[in-house]
Amino acid sequence: MSPPRKVAVIGAGPAGYVCAIRLAQLGQDVTVIEKEFLGGTCLNVGCIPSKALIAAGSLRHRIGEAGAMGITVKGLDLDVKKLVAWKEGIVGKLTGGVGGLLKNHGVTTLMGSAKLTGPGQVQVDSKDGSKNLKVDDIVIATGSVPIEIPGFAFDEKEVWSSTGALVPDRIPEHLVVIGGGYIGLELGMMFRKLGSQVTVLEATPGALPGQERDCVKVIERSLKKQKIKLLTETFAKGYTRKGSKSLVEIETKKGKETIECDQILSTVGRRPYSEGLGLESVGLATDKRGFLEVDEQMRTTVPGIYAVGDIAGQPMLAHKGSKEGLVAAGVIAGQPEAYDVRCVPAVIFTAPEMASVGLTEEQCKEKGLAIKTGQFPFAASGRAMSLMETEGFVKVIADAKSDELLGVHMVGPEVTELIAEATLAIEMGATAEDLARTIHAHPTLPEAVMEAAEAVHGMAVHIFQKK
Ligand code: FAD
Ligand code: NAI
Repeated sequence: MSPPRKVAVIGAGPAGYVCAIRLAQLGQDVTVIEKEFLGGTCLNVGCIPSKALIAAGSLRHRIGEAGAMGITVKGLDLDVKKLVAWKEGIVGKLTGGVGGLLKNHGVTTLMGSAKLTGPGQVQVDSKDGSKNLKVDDIVIATGSVPIEIPGFAFDEKEVWSSTGALVPDRIPEHLVVIGGGYIGLELGMMFRKLGSQVTVLEATPGALPGQERDCVKVIERSLKKQKIKLLTETFAKGYTRKGSKSLVEIETKKGKETIECDQILSTVGRRPYSEGLGLESVGLATDKRGFLEVDEQMRTTVPGIYAVGDIAGQPMLAHKGSKEGLVAAGVIAGQPEAYDVRCVPAVIFTAPEMASVGLTEEQCKEKGLAIKTGQFPFAASGRAMSLMETEGFVKVIADAKSDELLGVHMVGPEVTELIAEATLAIEMGATAEDLARTIHAHPTLPEAVMEAAEAVHGMAVHIFQKK
């Protein structure tokens, strides 16, 4: 067996800490360096806290809707301080867990800011001084940060970034959200459910640009139903303060307007982060968008330096970063590894939820692929009815000739969970018939996936399909 390689992993988000643990499992000598918080954006100010608050918003909303089931609750109250503390408790447990896992696996954790100073050399600056590491390999996992637009500098008081929105001191009366993408809609809908009036300003002609359009139509209808105003082809130009209010100047196709609100949340995307990392000292440079270019083995253009997670390109999703971390760890340990996945699932925690994996119909058309599709509405699912969540559908796209699954897209109850089956199916090269012939337990939501696959062949049992 070859001696362990000394590896420095810079950044302990879901890409970096997962990579570090796998490296240790594979017998390498690993140091992970983190300048702010173990668990990175995802555990501290991203996936986990946002999903906790969204779950609270959904619960409150469902209690309000339970009247149809004969359940009425009087005097429903919300203690924002307690809500935030509950959410922080979850974050604390998970980040503490990451610390424990790193320790138990024998990974050395250094809290400090890492800087490359030359080939195989990393300087770590912390409040206790500087330390220099000499290593064989370096994995850069420094993640991303929110983009600021002119006129809306994040002060986390009048203008929240997603980070500020996750520690609210109150539920705003009127929240103006700039950007109708992942975060804008997830958090916008969450605040609506907790009682805010919400207006979303989106630059493009529709919400969630780039996502499957039939699913997005359901989300846009739901925004209307929830009385969330979505202003498309709208740009926020700046704001002024008037007492405790903000006057947001917007430009639409119709001209200029002002919207009064008591809180602004700006979520117009994230940018890869490599500030102060000393890339130039090893001859490494980012592309125009700030990403580090990598090959299938997560190698950058400089030997011995790897990049994983948000810094290594789109999609900026936690699970994509973790997968890349595992690949880089395997490659460093000398295993035959490559990032050759067929698909990366995407899940959006809107109301209803949306989830996608593989190609959309539009992408199939662009590629000139002949396809067959099948769709099954949750309105025809007994389980969805019993949950009082019948909005949405599952859509399956298969190759017209081979029947191989190309994409599965869903909007509706629990679809962020249902997508896992479709991801496995595509990854294993399954056909629509494979999904259709698999017994799905009754009564469950995954039956909708089976029926959508049956619908590809005009054979869904619980909807009528004209021949
Ligand atoms: P990060 O998690 O950003 O971690 C990078 C780490 O590197 C940070 O801790 C940083 O402090 C550290 N670092 C940077 N530079 C240095 C340095 N020089 N020295 C030492 N340390 C350094 N994704 C999903 O898949 N599902 C979701 O539901 C989801 N929800 C989200 C909700 C919100 C509000 C936000 C903001 C993001 C969400 N994301 C979600 C995206 C997800 O958080 C990111 O894709 C993921 O965190 C990227 O992981 P990473 O390890 O590449 O980077
Ligand atoms: P985003 O890219 O999803 O959405 C940004 C939106 O802002 C787009 O719709 C864009 O058209 C719009 N926009 C850009 N500039 C604008 C302007 N000047 N005025 C008005 N609108 C403007 O970015 P977001 O929501 O900030 O999230 C960042 C990333 O974090 C996501 O792309 C995703 O990778 C990740 N994320 C993932 C989640 C999940 O997996 N459930 C949840 C939250 C974030």
